Amino acid sequence: MITLGNHTWARRELAPYLATSERVIRPANFSRNAPGRSLAVATAQDGTPVAVLNLMGSLYLDVTYGPFELVDDLVGEARSRAPVVVVDFHAEATSEKVALARWLDGRVTAVLGTHTHIQTADARVLPGGTAAITDAGMTGPHDSVIGVEADLAIGRMRTGMPVRFSPAERDVRIEGVLVECDPDGRATSCEAVRVRVG
Ligand SMILES: [Fe+2]
Repeated sequence: MITLGNHTWARRELAPYLATSERVIRPANFSRNAPGRSLAVATAQDGTPVAVLNLMGSLYLDVTYGPFELVDDLVGEARSRAPVVVVDFHAEATSEKVALARWLDGRVTAVLGTHTHIQTADARVLPGGTAAITDAGMTGPHDSVIGVEADLAIGRMRTGMPVRFSPAERDVRIEGVLVECDPDGRATSCEAVRVRVG
């Protein structure tokens, strides 16, 4: 499955695709009138149904509904369809990401933070059996300012003038999280992963 975030509508032509896709999902807290779904269920190799939820934070991001307003109903629906539930929480503030993981502890398999691009050193399994990390990190060029050629990003910050960004190319790494769980969806381990590929 692929989850999205605050840049979902940067390419408007994605909208009709999102309306029909069952594997590419967008944050639940956009307008109910916007296309796309925020819950996807697929079958793992061993036959276990796995649900993935996409939710966005409300601190410093533009959302129609706060994540805490929506999350209980979403988790209820996900759990009715799959024992393993993974939440991608695309959010800016560490406080909001830690709070959501704590709120969901024992009800979902993992709460994985995204959006800030810098992998955090807090991969853990909470007491109720929910794996969590504040940010899973960035798969992309790390010789950059979160993916953009550094001189372009610095130029925009120094001058306040618009600068067309282009992606950097060097020190490409895959970053993410490896979560192991029981068949009932309870996490048993959570490990941050970083692999240098180029
Ligand atoms: Fe983002």
